[in-house]
Amino acid sequence: MIRFILNNQSVEADPKHSGKAFLDFLRKDEKLKGMKLVCKEGECGACSVLVGELIEGKVVYQSMTSCIMPLANAHLKHIVTIEGINMEELNGVQQRMVDNNGTQCGFCTPGFVVGMTGALLTGEPVTMENMIKNIDGNICRCTGYHSIQRACESVVDDLGGKAKSLNTLIKKGYLPAYFKTIAKQLQKLNEETKKEKWEERKEGIRLGGGTDLYVQKPRAMYESEPEHMYDKPQLNKISRVGKEFRFGASVTMGDLYRSDVFNEAVPGQEEFFKLLSSTPIRNMATIGGNLVNASPIGDFTIFLLGLNSRIVLTLKNKNRIIDLKDFYKDYKKMDLKKGEYLKEIRFDIPEGKNTYFSFEKVSQRKYLDIAGVNSALLLKLDDEKNIVDAHLSAGGVGPIPWYLKKSSRFLIGKKFEKKTIEKTLEKINEEITPISDARGSADYKRLLLRQLFLAHCLKIDENIFDVSTLIGTEKVN
Ligand SMILES: Cc1cc2nc3c(=O)[nH]c(=O)nc-3n(C[C@H](O)[C@H](O)[C@H](O)COP(=O)(O)OP(=O)(O)OC[C@H]3O[C@@H](n4cnc5c(N)ncnc54)[C@H](O)[C@@H]3O)c2cc1C
Ligand code: FES
Ligand code: FES
Repeated sequence: MIRFILNNQSVEADPKHSGKAFLDFLRKDEKLKGMKLVCKEGECGACSVLVGELIEGKVVYQSMTSCIMPLANAHLKHIVTIEGINMEELNGVQQRMVDNNGTQCGFCTPGFVVGMTGALLTGEPVTMENMIKNIDGNICRCTGYHSIQRACESVVDDLGGKAKSLNTLIKKGYLPAYFKTIAKQLQKLNEETKKEKWEERKEGIRLGGGTDLYVQKPRAMYESEPEHMYDKPQLNKISRVGKEFRFGASVTMGDLYRSDVFNEAVPGQEEFFKLLSSTPIRNMATIGGNLVNASPIGDFTIFLLGLNSRIVLTLKNKNRIIDLKDFYKDYKKMDLKKGEYLKEIRFDIPEGKNTYFSFEKVSQRKYLDIAGVNSALLLKLDDEKNIVDAHLSAGGVGPIPWYLKKSSRFLIGKKFEKKTIEKTLEKINEEITPISDARGSADYKRLLLRQLFLAHCLKIDENIFDVSTLIGTEKVN
């Protein structure tokens, strides 16, 4: 059975319906209509719920978009909808939304209120930055956002500073009292469920967070009984083993963003994560899903190709390790055998004072948009600035997420200087095969990759060339 707590109630659902979208379960089966159905593609946040998981005795909450969240991914969690934070009087967030005119037609309001309340439950300090982060995937067509921002400011004025305890949030009218019982309820649920054997399916679609599958083929997913990879403990580990960083295929983008081990291994990636969808999507999106979806512009795929990663593929408990760059064969065709799944991703930690790693992305909007072109570069230099190792990847310039083998090889052994950069630009141009599509013409994509490569190089040495003489000004269609 799929077992979880929905607001203040224990729920059991038949695994036969494990592929159902959680929002459908809420609105149709449970008749809870507070969370709204708008885009059904994870783009607007009207359906946002909080998903609480018991970690080391504490319930840690993350916001997720329930319209593309599989019912099975609620297993052993506490799911909070707007009904679960409604009280006799308006709660602290709702009152502040009213006081600051943060709602007009009201369609988006439950999603905003749930997201803002969730910001108080992440265990992070109550700051404007964290409040906004928790609603960065929510869209409102009426208010112009300033009034919602003022409501957030008012919450921060009231609670600001370090994370608040459940007792404080309950006392100050932000949460109903039952929240205090959830940790114990989840503990009990976990203990009882350990005794049950979770039926693992050998056939069927492999399902991570569902953020690709529920957008690409929603109907097929609702009716299917997929194999759930999301909560498998062996696919959720993050570790450092010697000089190698390893993580399971079901680790989400949000897990890595919050992982100290990851942030030590590849420091300074705050901006990279902000360029990936929105907080609720990052909380659901697994890295394994990003790699196996095989989109030519998958951001994490390009990031990991640039780190020259290896992947562990498993079939009947037998592992096979291959380079990620050899995984992609043609558009959406991979070196993945029938029944095989992606277990783990590994890369050598880019260490050493002359080792540089850079990721760049261009999209039509800076945030909440998929890439037109993206690229990553890992470069190792010796003390004389000779390039001893290089790995360049790029998305949106060919049918697969592209590891630029020839250009990477060309860089090795050369001095890191303007002449090498100019010659490499020629190699890159010869190697890629972009096509014109909705995200831009082939020429435009060539220009974008050229500029992204220059941006990588400027990050390594801002004086490596005079920007005004190298940045292309040629006419692009
Ligand atoms: C609103 C929105 C914004 C987005 N923005 C971005 C963005 O900015 N950048 C970006 O790169 N992506 C973006 N995406 C795409 C998506 O979030 C990512 O590709 C995500 O990493 C997919 O992971 P998932 O777990 O949700 O995949 P799922 O949908 O669960 O699965 C995707 C594919 O992987 C397969 N699969 C999953 N796990 C395994 C496994 N362990 N072994 C074998 N096969 C497996 C599935 O069968 C399926 O074919 C966005 C999506 C949405 C809805
Ligand atoms: S309905 Fe828009 S994100 Fe779910
Ligand atoms: S109040 Fe109408 S969409 Fe936000």
